[in-house]
Amino acid sequence: MRMRAAVLEEFGAPLVVQELELEEPKAGEVLVRLEACGVCHTDLYTASGADPSGYAPTVLGHEGAGIVERMGEGVTSVTEGDRVVTLFSPQCRECIHCEDPRTNICLAIREQQGAGRLPDGTTRLSREGEPIRHFMGTSTFAEYTVMPEIALAKVSPEAPADRACLFACGLSTGLGAAMFTAKVEPGSTCVVFGAGMVGLGAVAGCRLQGAERVVCVDLSEDRLELARGQGATDAIVAGEGTVEQVLELTGGFGADYTFEATGNVAVMRQAVESARMGWGLCTVAGVAGKGETLDIVPRLLITGRRICGSSFGGVKGRDQVPELIDRYLAGEIDVDAFLSHRLALDEVGRGFELMEAQDGIRSVIDYT
Ligand SMILES: NC(=O)c1ccc[n+]([C@@H]2O[C@H](COP(=O)([O-])OP(=O)(O)OC[C@H]3O[C@@H](n4cnc5c(N)ncnc54)[C@H](O)[C@@H]3O)[C@@H](O)[C@H]2O)c1
Ligand SMILES: [Zn+2]
Ligand SMILES: [Zn+2]
Repeated sequence: MRMRAAVLEEFGAPLVVQELELEEPKAGEVLVRLEACGVCHTDLYTASGADPSGYAPTVLGHEGAGIVERMGEGVTSVTEGDRVVTLFSPQCRECIHCEDPRTNICLAIREQQGAGRLPDGTTRLSREGEPIRHFMGTSTFAEYTVMPEIALAKVSPEAPADRACLFACGLSTGLGAAMFTAKVEPGSTCVVFGAGMVGLGAVAGCRLQGAERVVCVDLSEDRLELARGQGATDAIVAGEGTVEQVLELTGGFGADYTFEATGNVAVMRQAVESARMGWGLCTVAGVAGKGETLDIVPRLLITGRRICGSSFGGVKGRDQVPELIDRYLAGEIDVDAFLSHRLALDEVGRGFELMEAQDGIRSVIDYT
């Protein structure tokens, strides 16, 4: 079929919306008609050329929600008409990692996905016979996409697509960091650094876990206000003395759980230093720049603080994205507050501009 998509032709240049060929789904693959797609930093990072593993031409986009149109041979977990959320972090349910509750990092298709191909090593996207590579296994800046069955979460049809798509990346990453990676315990004290999509999700996740105190740290007063709306009990405008302020708020000891959601290694250090002696756990969700390292005093670890990282919030996508969306539908998560702008596919460049200007939390491309 022919369909419209936003193509990264060249690093640093605007995406070009154009018609491409999309082949029918092969065995284990699914054709999805996109309804909505969030515009995320990772798309911009790749488009800018800063990502050393990036490639072009490719169709960007990874925060998609849509409807299953057709299935390739052997597909059993979704059927025509199902509403699905796209997963850049798939769940095959068979590999050693999928079978282990300690991680969500599925091993099934990592290599081909990283190289921009579907699991059989080919692409379904092309232009005048020339293959165009997929991006993050999703390529959702497009009217249609073909994806592996193991990378689609079947979610409630009642979830509006423009809200459901936010669970494809940033929101689930934040919620999951608190709920599945750190497993925040009721009554605890938490500190979240960064109040973007990921940090606000972490604030909501801490609240859902029954945290007693949730401190949010950000440079922007407006974003701290949003954090309050998600359940933050205290807000700190970030600066030099942030760690001291956190220690003051927590009886001199630091927090039971801290979360880093900025991607800044200096903030990661603050997040470690703000964790409590004895058992404080610092969860790092932000993605640092290439070659950057985390600088901390080892004594902080010997005295009982711990650090861990979290990819996609530790969320096992096919099992847990539908559960998170059910909690949203039950009124437990305020997703509307995150949807700032609605754009047409042709306005995807505007989505990047709004993100760079920190205008709103998420712009969503509406295909309907
Ligand atoms: N681990 C994963 O799977 C995963 C998934 C999605 C995004 N991410 C990463 O998470 C990070 C956050 O993503 P986002 O979409 O929320 O980004 P964002 O840019 O919307 O939010 C970042 C926030 O950090 C704040 N900030 C900047 N410097 C700060 C400082 N010194 N102290 C306190 N706050 C500061 C900004 O004001 C902003 O509100 C990024 O690094 C992104 O790449 C990771
Ligand atoms: Zn797996
Ligand atoms: Zn993303």
